[in-house]
Amino acid sequence: MSSRTTSFFLDPAPPRRIEVVGFLNVWIPVVMLAATATALTTSYAAAVGSALVPGLSWIEWIATAVFLVDLFVSAKVDRDVRGPVRPLLRTADFLAMLPLYALTGFVPLLVFRLLKLFRIAFWMSIWRQQHFALWNALRLIYFIYWLSLAVHALTSGWLLLRHAPASVDEAQTMYLHSLYWCISTLTTIGYGDITPQTNGEIIYAMVIMIFGVGMYGYVIANISTIITNLQPSRVRYLETMERLGAFMRYQRLPGELQKRIRDYYTYVWEQRMGYDESSILRDLPPGLHGEVSLFLKRGIIRKVPFFREADDDLVRDIAMQMHPVVYTPGDVIVREGDPGSRMYFISRGRLEVRSVDGSIHADLRDGEFFGEMALIYHQPRNATVRAASYCDLYFLDQEGFNQVVRIHPAFEEHIRTMTEERRKS
Ligand code: CMP
Repeated sequence: MSSRTTSFFLDPAPPRRIEVVGFLNVWIPVVMLAATATALTTSYAAAVGSALVPGLSWIEWIATAVFLVDLFVSAKVDRDVRGPVRPLLRTADFLAMLPLYALTGFVPLLVFRLLKLFRIAFWMSIWRQQHFALWNALRLIYFIYWLSLAVHALTSGWLLLRHAPASVDEAQTMYLHSLYWCISTLTTIGYGDITPQTNGEIIYAMVIMIFGVGMYGYVIANISTIITNLQPSRVRYLETMERLGAFMRYQRLPGELQKRIRDYYTYVWEQRMGYDESSILRDLPPGLHGEVSLFLKRGIIRKVPFFREADDDLVRDIAMQMHPVVYTPGDVIVREGDPGSRMYFISRGRLEVRSVDGSIHADLRDGEFFGEMALIYHQPRNATVRAASYCDLYFLDQEGFNQVVRIHPAFEEHIRTMTEERRKS
């Protein structure tokens, strides 16, 4: 008994993540369509009268059927919803499903159909979590959706205040005019060709104008943030370039140096879209860190012959310790005689190894490494290594190197063997 209690507290079932999979992929759009149709017809019917809404009773019965089925479909999903959201959603779904208008003919009862929009908002948030990479694009789409519904509701409100239409065609024409008035007033243009006549219309127009000022600012701010966020790396790159440009002008850096700095940032942006791999990896838990590291560094792992043959644990441990770094042509990466605390793996690029006395003369390419001698023998660098092209490297610092070697002595053995060969050559 006690062990069961303990395990219950120590190891509670983690909340299951809700996902839109399989049948739900087809079903949810159907529910969305029905909910949107009822939301649109509700305010329209309230404005022009139910008799002038073609196919209203069809929409009502179809919506009832869809919402009824959805009560059962979403019951399974709702078991994984935590907190007060679940009873609220279930109640809203139930009330929205009742064919109250179809049974009574009383138009105000249509308002219960709007409760289904809570379910739509729920699915939208699930979709957004599931399609993490489309976060901003979905935000923009949802925003346009809710905004359209709001504009439709405001248009219907204005329609309600005008004289009642006599036919379906007149109702539709009046709706079009109202929509035109509503959008022009909301966007603060208001041409003045349609003007409020009665006191009610004047008050409504004022409310819309005030609402419009706030909404206009909100829309512009939101759309610009969303569009900016669609390309965050590009924005960051441009900001960095602007800041750098101002700094370089202020410090009057020589033209050649300015060009090299600009080329470096452009290269890094083109290669990595300006994302700092290390800082993103740092925030991940160890398990994920290992897997993402392996994936990101798959290119270099494939290139270094030793990694290709090494066991998975060793490769994963090294991948977790390797950090990316970029050098531009002409950069000195290690200088002869300096103390050394990093070794490098070449992902892409050409490098020249030279010693002052001319005893060392080698070129290194993709998949090779250098800077290991200082780490193994704790001696100063025995040569200078210079980038001959843009170089994408990964470095392993002394601490990372020691950590890997402690767990995988085979790694040090391999590096030593290679080093001995280099020394002899
Ligand atoms: P380290 O001494 O730490 O720094 C200079 C690096 O140049 C050295 O490690 C080796 O990685 C590399 N190096 C030295 N001699 C040779 C060689 N003959 N061929 C290729 N690389 C070398």
